[in-house]
Amino acid sequence: MSKLFITCALPYANGPTHLGHLRSTYIPADIYARYNRMKGNEVLFVCSTDEHGTPIAVKAEKEGKKPLEIATRYHNMIKEDLHACHISFDNFSRTTDSLHYEISQNFFLKLYEKGFIYEKEIKQPYCDRCGRFLPDRYVEGICPHCDSEGARGDHCEVCGRHLEPTQLVEPQCLICNSKPEIKESKHYFFKLSHFENDVHNWIISNKELPANVKNYALQWIKEGLKDWILTRDMEWGIPVPLDGAEGKIIYVWGEAFLGYISSAAQWSGKTGKLWKEYWDEKAVHFIGKDIIYHHSIFWPALLMAYGCKLPKNIIAGEYLSLEGSKMSTSKNWVIWTSDFLKNFDADVLRYYLTINAPLTRDTDFSWDDFQRRVNDELADVLGNFIHRTFSFTKRFFNGEIPEATDFSGDDLEFEQSIKEAPLIIGNLIEEYKFREALVNVIKLAKKGNKYFNDQEPWKTVKEDPEKAANCLYLCNQLTKVLAIFLIPYMPEKSLQILETLNLSTDNIVWDNTSSFIPSGHKIKKAKPLFAKIDDEFIEKQKEDLYKNLEEEVHDSSEDNEMTEIVSIDDFAKLEFRIGKVIEAESVEGSDNLLKLQVDIKEKQIQVVAGIAKKYSDDEILNKKVVVLVNLAPAKLFGVKSEGMILATSDSLSILSSETAAIGERIK
Ligand code: 2FM
Ligand code: ZN
Repeated sequence: MSKLFITCALPYANGPTHLGHLRSTYIPADIYARYNRMKGNEVLFVCSTDEHGTPIAVKAEKEGKKPLEIATRYHNMIKEDLHACHISFDNFSRTTDSLHYEISQNFFLKLYEKGFIYEKEIKQPYCDRCGRFLPDRYVEGICPHCDSEGARGDHCEVCGRHLEPTQLVEPQCLICNSKPEIKESKHYFFKLSHFENDVHNWIISNKELPANVKNYALQWIKEGLKDWILTRDMEWGIPVPLDGAEGKIIYVWGEAFLGYISSAAQWSGKTGKLWKEYWDEKAVHFIGKDIIYHHSIFWPALLMAYGCKLPKNIIAGEYLSLEGSKMSTSKNWVIWTSDFLKNFDADVLRYYLTINAPLTRDTDFSWDDFQRRVNDELADVLGNFIHRTFSFTKRFFNGEIPEATDFSGDDLEFEQSIKEAPLIIGNLIEEYKFREALVNVIKLAKKGNKYFNDQEPWKTVKEDPEKAANCLYLCNQLTKVLAIFLIPYMPEKSLQILETLNLSTDNIVWDNTSSFIPSGHKIKKAKPLFAKIDDEFIEKQKEDLYKNLEEEVHDSSEDNEMTEIVSIDDFAKLEFRIGKVIEAESVEGSDNLLKLQVDIKEKQIQVVAGIAKKYSDDEILNKKVVVLVNLAPAKLFGVKSEGMILATSDSLSILSSETAAIGERIK
């Protein structure tokens, strides 16, 4: 029995989970955790929500709430999503937990004391109007590499490059749109360059690291590792625990990793067991491929600096696209976990997202393919085999596992396939080949159907009852074995099968999988396992998805909230002005959106408005409309929108005034 520490990348608490998260990280990690528990290993499987960082702070600012409120809202949603998907964490914490603060600050201090963190003055954008520095996404501008607009201070979404905030061309404060100045600020840097050789050696000598992780990591190391800025000038985050560092926090990536440890430490507090024993024996991180860099380079270097054991492995799931196009939460091209689960079982989702493609390859979610696999593989192959075994046993053998007598060659061969399967499938799971193992499970069910057909028990039950008994004896054994193999993949369905088999569902041990159920054992009445999905239902799902794409999203998460009372101060924050539409055109790919240039006297702003179903571009041109001009910019269909035209929600009637002057404020 060995100890095993398993983690999932910590989801940012700025949105609920979607199918991409489940596919790349949570489902594979859970399969591995459940399998290892059945192997008798002591598993510690932890996660947390990642609750700092600028996206959460910006969202809070946009909504006029505290960052902690936003984080709490999404922490609860994420926890609920993952629970509903049967992700079996031993502990699920938050990076705003005080234990996490303590562990992160101690970690930072230790690196500082050991000389691996040093101070340096650097230039940073500073917004005079807001009276603060503009870290990461607080500043936007034109990407210096690819010239696209809307690049953020840390990253350009179009060319995917990492950016420093001072590199942006025509930078603007995200909150007030004014042009920042450049000011000096003291920051703390981690000596990443010092660890270049050690990290390199660790990567090439680690035989377990999968090829995708290894290749990405080596490519980056080849480009050379630069020291890494570990702090930010902002309020939301973990304060730097040093004198003279007031107003500075530890960069979110400088503390998020410690979320693995703080969640485990919280678990230790509850259970009295020592998390470190698990970490030291074997730690495996499950992540999405977008954060391979962080886990294969930053994290090992931080651990080396601190002086503790490195993880044994990093499993990086690749991307999931949706109906052939890249998923995008801002364009609403996404399937949220909670929406999916309104219509389908979590187990079916776990199955589909695993069987769809190896984890190390990008793949696509398509409703048609989902329907095909559920109907063909789950209902027709697996469900059918189990169902015919149960109903035949009930009908012809009084619901008892029949007596087996002299096995024929076919029986022996079939028995052999059942007996050798646990090792084959187990080895694949141990090699993180979750899809391949599942494909083997389905193959075995197919084999079961073929054996059942070949043995024709419906005939032999009268002509040669011993032959029929052997067939049903073995088919029940295979049913049990399949149920056990499926525990890591479809925990609920497999328990349902075991319950029908009238077997205990506690403490199931993988290595006993193929110990056979004795003859005479009574089974229970079976319930259907998998329902087929009809075409109409799939069409409806597709329609909903495409409809989503058209509806635009300044922030859809608020749609269902009750109207709140706002104070006069809250109202005063909204800057409504009269603006004149001086240019209008439709937004490509949408039949709902118009891109407008609106003159508000002191400047011109671009607004994307969801009014095309009511107004043509000609009709809106030259109208004097009411515009909210200090709305945080957002992108709709990839087009930047800097304000909002007011209109009624049902009839889409635009509020306008022909008498007021352009630029006039409304209060
Ligand atoms: O990329 C992300 O979603 C991060 N929140 C992952 C953090 S994983 C770890 F470092 F904690
Ligand atoms: Zn500003």
